Amino acid sequence: MSAFQNKSGFALQSNAYGSPATYGKAAQGGSKWAPRNWSKKTLLAVIAAAVIIVAAIVIGAVVGTKSAAYPNYSKLSYTLQDTYSGTDFFDSFDYYTGYDPSSGFVHYVPNTTATSSTYNLTYASSTSAVMRVDTTDTDASTGRYSVRITSKKQYDSGLFVFDVLNSPYGCSTWPALWLSDPSNWPTNGEIDVMEAVNQATTGNQMTLHTTDDCKMDVKRKESGTVLEKNCWNETESNAGCGVQGAQDTFGEAFNDNGGGVYALELRDAGIRIWFWARGSIPSDIPTDVTDTTAPDPSTWGEALADFPATDCDISSHFKNQSIIANIDLCGSWAGATSVYSDEDSCPGTCESFVTTNATAFETAYWEFSSWRVYTAS
Ligand SMILES: *[C@@H]1O[C@H](CO)[C@@H](O)[C@H](O)[C@H]1NC(C)=O
Ligand SMILES: *[C@@H]1O[C@H](CO)[C@@H](O)[C@H](O)[C@H]1NC(C)=O
Ligand SMILES: *[C@@H]1O[C@H](CO)[C@@H](O)[C@H](O)[C@H]1NC(C)=O
Ligand SMILES: *[C@@H]1O[C@H](CO)[C@@H](O)[C@H](O)[C@H]1NC(C)=O
Ligand SMILES: *[C@@H]1O[C@H](CO)[C@@H](O)[C@H](O)[C@H]1NC(C)=O
Ligand SMILES: *[C@@H]1O[C@H](CO)[C@@H](O)[C@H](O)[C@H]1NC(C)=O
Repeated sequence: MSAFQNKSGFALQSNAYGSPATYGKAAQGGSKWAPRNWSKKTLLAVIAAAVIIVAAIVIGAVVGTKSAAYPNYSKLSYTLQDTYSGTDFFDSFDYYTGYDPSSGFVHYVPNTTATSSTYNLTYASSTSAVMRVDTTDTDASTGRYSVRITSKKQYDSGLFVFDVLNSPYGCSTWPALWLSDPSNWPTNGEIDVMEAVNQATTGNQMTLHTTDDCKMDVKRKESGTVLEKNCWNETESNAGCGVQGAQDTFGEAFNDNGGGVYALELRDAGIRIWFWARGSIPSDIPTDVTDTTAPDPSTWGEALADFPATDCDISSHFKNQSIIANIDLCGSWAGATSVYSDEDSCPGTCESFVTTNATAFETAYWEFSSWRVYTAS
């Protein structure tokens, strides 16, 4: 951008040099091309032009170096810090009960309602934890019951391994598995590991949301499709800087494969997210949750999404992150007419669907095998 501004400045200078007055004076004393015949004004214009050309070259070189720059994701030694699994899975979380900050048509219920036999929206066994949307109310005229859980523990960095058996999908749904510090948003950042809307047929979207000065218009090593590149929440209506995965990274296709594992690495060098379907999880990710052996991301190869620290100070933009899982309904993304009706061909209006179509929410559930967090020593 600065190079472009300099280019326009240079064009202005050439016009001054080529103006009739300047040209005429130089021509009177002999060859207009000989510097000794140039007027003071012409000489200054030529010097100014030369300075601008040199500046443009320097800026070009800096920009060029930046586009080739890439952080050193050297091997880190991880140690298992926390395991979220088994019958007490939900004990490590707070149930959010306020109005939905994303304007959804939803009531996030407290743990007593969620665990009651009437609703049973969260329950866990020795093998998995389930988080679902109410499927009984056929007149949910002020919004349907759902759940949003926030880990009590918060992290500044680490390797997060999410083993997911089932992801929610269906018209009006907006599920997400993400990290953020909700009371200090966007100052402490947001990392969306899994997120999709409605039928979730376009794959998983992995996105960062930050304050100003965090951009991904740099060299990256990833297999996903790059969406926006500015992570600042004030740009593109808070779209964030996103990367999209293939169709089987979320929803029905993901579930049909028995789900899979998402691994998120949050470190000073950058943020990377890998995904493997159930049949291709690397052998260094233990299937047995009692196995404390730490995985080694340096052996995993290219990530699905790569957010290097090249033009974003990761450690200052991402702090104090809780792990959050929720299933929103409608709201600013899933419920937008351009998305709900036009892109995803869902029936009626999003709110009428949520109000009446209780049984449609039978596919709207998360099932987690385990979440494990490792910290670098
Ligand atoms: C990356 O960092 C590691 C460990 O600090 C070092 O051994 C290695 O030489 C570095 N690689 C590059 C390309 O700078
Ligand atoms: C609900 O959460 C409160 C506060 O964290 C806790 O004391 C209580 O045991 C929980 N109840 C159930 C049913 O999970
Ligand atoms: C919730 O549903 C699960 C699975 O059907 C069942 O095992 C559990 O007993 C139910 N919990 C309550 C409180 O009804
Ligand atoms: C971390 O988050 C908690 C709750 O969201 C908040 O109370 C606390 O002030 C935060 N700490 C920092 C250092 O931002
Ligand atoms: C972005 O964050 C700022 C706080 O830093 C907030 O005031 C603003 O409303 C947010 N904008 C959007 C579009 O989310
Ligand atoms: C209710 O949901 C089901 C499953 O998504 C769908 O096939 C059906 O068309 C919906 N009915 C109405 C009235 O929207």
